[in-house]
Amino acid sequence: MISKIKEFKVLGDNRGQLVVLEGNKNIPFDIKRVFYIYGTQPNTPRGSHSHYKTKQFLVVVNGSCKVTLDNGENKETFNLNKPNIGLFQDSLIWGSMHDFSEDCVLMVLADDFYVEDDYIRDYNNFLEVVN
Ligand code: TYD
Repeated sequence: MISKIKEFKVLGDNRGQLVVLEGNKNIPFDIKRVFYIYGTQPNTPRGSHSHYKTKQFLVVVNGSCKVTLDNGENKETFNLNKPNIGLFQDSLIWGSMHDFSEDCVLMVLADDFYVEDDYIRDYNNFLEVVN
């Protein structure tokens, strides 16, 4: 198992559902940045990079997509298809998002600001760093 799927408690009642994400509580880091991806295409993957330091938590708040995580040795694909599940992507884990539903909204929580120097965008370079 490369990384863990986490199921969040749903605080639902007859008015609808509510999920709470809190830094250092059910999200295992201080949340410094949130971004979300939508308007994606089923046949157009995204991501395909790793981070030296940044940790991320991925939550599909609408629709579905698949995320493949790779530690340089093993790959595992996760189906994110409910708004109350999330996937932790640690630093030095290669991640790609694919098979987006048309209505997919993928929200990403990160423990740091956007820093291009923290990205590893070349897979061979990633393998050199992790091995
Ligand atoms: P990109 O890394 O290609 O997205 P993906 O995670 O799907 O691979 O990012 C698309 C553009 O957005 C790119 O020009 C970098 C910019 N960007 C920011 O400015 N801040 C951010 O927090 C992120 C994630 C991306």
